[in-house]
Amino acid sequence: MSKKFTVAVIGAGSISQAHMNGYNINEKDISVEAVVDPVENARKIFMDQYDVKKSYSSMKDLFEHFIPDIVSICTWHALHHEQTVEAAKAGVKAIICEKPMAIGSGPAKAMIDACAENNVKLVISHQRRFTPGWEKAKELVESGLIGNPLFVELKALEGLLNWATHNIDGSRYIIGDPDTEWVFGSVERTTNKFERDTRIEDSCMGLIQYKNGIQSFVQSDLAQYDYESQWKTNHPIFIRGEIGALDITEYEVKYLGGRYSGWETIPADIPKEKIDPIGGDTNGKLVKELVNWLNGGNDHRCSGDKAKQTLDIMMSIYQSARINEKVYFPVNENTYPLDLMFDEGKIPLKNPERYDIRGFLDRSDIDEEDYNMLKKQGIPHHQIMQKVKRL
Ligand SMILES: NC(=O)c1ccc[n+]([C@@H]2O[C@H](COP(=O)([O-])OP(=O)(O)OC[C@H]3O[C@@H](n4cnc5c(N)ncnc54)[C@H](O)[C@@H]3O)[C@@H](O)[C@H]2O)c1
Repeated sequence: MSKKFTVAVIGAGSISQAHMNGYNINEKDISVEAVVDPVENARKIFMDQYDVKKSYSSMKDLFEHFIPDIVSICTWHALHHEQTVEAAKAGVKAIICEKPMAIGSGPAKAMIDACAENNVKLVISHQRRFTPGWEKAKELVESGLIGNPLFVELKALEGLLNWATHNIDGSRYIIGDPDTEWVFGSVERTTNKFERDTRIEDSCMGLIQYKNGIQSFVQSDLAQYDYESQWKTNHPIFIRGEIGALDITEYEVKYLGGRYSGWETIPADIPKEKIDPIGGDTNGKLVKELVNWLNGGNDHRCSGDKAKQTLDIMMSIYQSARINEKVYFPVNENTYPLDLMFDEGKIPLKNPERYDIRGFLDRSDIDEEDYNMLKKQGIPHHQIMQKVKRL
């Protein structure tokens, strides 16, 4: 039997649970050996829950003692770039880094370059590419059911980088990861809005022109939609083709254009009750494809170079609004355009009070005893963080 790949998880918060689901499903190939988090209680809970033996308060400390084969980077966005580069230079074989890949096209390129220079495989956690609904949609498009795709429509909420990264990326997967020709965008930011400590917009929209002729329109925080009731999605994808259309969720695909009038539901290959857009088999398949890639198999469907295309599209929506022109690819602005726009006075605030839509996740000032008490009641991490006493 071949040796197992060792893993260290960086950041023992909410999304690390989904990464652990993925590793545990692949336990014959994977052994999770260490966790890194500056918060001692977060490390302790993680070690107890997953029977992980080693823990460190920083990546520097980890790499001084132990170089795992794989690291999972499960920290907030702004850390993704520097932690990926640090891990690549330390000598790991592969990195699974959370979305959004980075804050700016320059940092994303630095991640790809550091991984290429050190022969490291980089995967970005756009795990929804593995959901059976999106896989089914790809199969249907490739079968020619709707003819050539012409137009892709995407809606998202809670920040372009936060949610829209998934359905921009997922729609690209379904239509075959086309090259981008240009992006034209518009941004509104009159309130001082942040998400996990990253400046974000109040709302935005962008038109994407792919080189193969397909256009895609993304709107973020412009239309409310129902995503909380069962089997609805918070990442809708709608594709119109020459002879039909698909309305796509992670659970199933609705098809218009068959012999019968109206929409026809085409189920995914797995019953929708068994589909987890985050965690479960979805992360299990992401890890399995990485193991296969490490063992000499095909490139990963969530590889860093594919994710950088998605990131460049999002950065170009901001950059286009900044320069009032279409942004042609390859992109040449490396800095986060929303920060540049802010510094240049192009998005003046009507209300200067800073707020962070995920600020409740900040663990630096909470009463950890209170956290433990709520945890024992079986309350999930995000809910605990909204209830816990602040010091
Ligand atoms: N792929 C998805 O569907 C999905 C879903 C949710 C979140 N995310 C992404 O996951 C990332 C983390 O989000 P979250 O909700 O898990 O946040 P979180 O706040 O729950 O967890 C982050 C953890 O990182 C720790 N941390 C802070 N600084 C650190 C450092 N220097 N080294 C190691 N650990 C450090 C914190 O103490 C905390 O425990 C974000 O980038 C987010 O966008 C992805």
